[in-house]
Amino acid sequence: MAKRNFNKLLVKGEDAQLDLKFSSGYRSYKEQQKVMKDYVEKDGEKVARQYTAKPGESEHQTGLAFDVGTNKPLDDFHKDFEKTQEGRWIKQHASDYGFIIRYPKGQSHETGYAYEAWHLRYVGKPLAKIIDEQDTNLESYYRLNEK
Ligand code: DAL
Ligand code: ZN
Repeated sequence: MAKRNFNKLLVKGEDAQLDLKFSSGYRSYKEQQKVMKDYVEKDGEKVARQYTAKPGESEHQTGLAFDVGTNKPLDDFHKDFEKTQEGRWIKQHASDYGFIIRYPKGQSHETGYAYEAWHLRYVGKPLAKIIDEQDTNLESYYRLNEK
């Protein structure tokens, strides 16, 4: 379901003349280990930890998380993606396909991660709509709705 909806989103993006692409989906423990290692080498441990989960803690290992990318040349994808047409379209339309931007801007004190405009998490359309409309995140939503 998650993958199917992600593919639908990519197709709609293509219809809208956008240059969106699949960047990363399911990752095994080993693959997450490699992602972490590469980012630590590139940016150092402290910075890498802000946008990379330790192996065993990444929701990419659940198969419910997908990273989108673009072929457009960007100086710094992590910083610049949100400002591209593609990044803006994703923010507007992800919830139509049951996805949330899992680590929203200005909410890292709740999510534990810096803003990731490219990282989508499948939660189903009803919940995605609520979280998007309330400009909130999964941690905060569940904390407030816990019985
Ligand atoms: N980029 C997210 C936090 C992950 O590595 O799962
Ligand atoms: Zn991701």
